[in-house]
Amino acid sequence: MAALRSTSSRLLATASRHAFKSTAVMSRSMASVADATVESSPNASSDSRMKSIQVYRWNPDSPTEKPRMQTYKLDLNKTGPMVLDALVRIKNEIDPTLTFRRSCREGICGSCAMNINGTNTLACLCRIPTDTSAEMKIYPLPHTYVVKDLVPDLTHFYKQYKSIKPYLQRDTPSPDGKEYRQSKADRRKLDGLYECILCACCSTSCPSYWWNSEEYLGPAILLQSYRWLADSRDEKKAQRKAALDNSMSLYRCHTILNCSRTCPKGLNPGLAIAEIKKEMSF
Ligand code: SF4
Ligand code: SF4
Ligand code: FES
Repeated sequence: MAALRSTSSRLLATASRHAFKSTAVMSRSMASVADATVESSPNASSDSRMKSIQVYRWNPDSPTEKPRMQTYKLDLNKTGPMVLDALVRIKNEIDPTLTFRRSCREGICGSCAMNINGTNTLACLCRIPTDTSAEMKIYPLPHTYVVKDLVPDLTHFYKQYKSIKPYLQRDTPSPDGKEYRQSKADRRKLDGLYECILCACCSTSCPSYWWNSEEYLGPAILLQSYRWLADSRDEKKAQRKAALDNSMSLYRCHTILNCSRTCPKGLNPGLAIAEIKKEMSF
């Protein structure tokens, strides 16, 4: 009961803080299905492959209006193969008010992370299912405050990233005053860690992070934390471990492994967390 109460009060505290911070940020909630916007294609032919795409909409300029799902119809014959292609086409040709983040369109920047048909992933790496009889549903990342439509507020996520000091820390200068070298074997220890693009797909799929994100760092930030713990050149291992040595930052992970299942880069944050726990026991 005590744990439940403290979780609720943390959630309430978070909610009121966000309410003070900005009325233009709304927690993702149930959205009703609304208007269908059909692609205006003057050349629609009999071999068109029309696909329905439901997209979560919420506008901070109308904060009293409830979130809703808007349906767009696209001809797959005229649309690129990825979900990001569909969103860009909707924005360019049907509805310029639709808002989402994207930059690299090749799985590098992490900005197009969203929930597509129930899975957190990158829109630019996710193929549009070609079955035209099934609707595709697109939501912002779950359990995030929404800035607008598919754009989540990741302010707290980045604050947590900053808190782990994600940079090389050492006092000893390099022998030649130039690079800090490491052996090939030590460099290999960073494989599977350095590739993380901080898209937040894993953290926003983690039930422990949903309920304890104020204090629990979550899989993405813990994977990054291990990236620095595992770096043979870093000299602040003891301080890094001390910062994690409390009941909330690390030990809220219960090895459910949603994080590793969803990572669009094929990384394994669950394993990184297990490695940190191993290090902490020595
Ligand atoms: S571990 Fe994977 S899912 Fe998590 S932030 Fe990094 S790239 Fe994204
Ligand atoms: S393994 Fe840990 S971090 Fe990953 S989803 Fe489960 S509780 Fe969250
Ligand atoms: S647009 Fe950069 S990861 Fe998708």
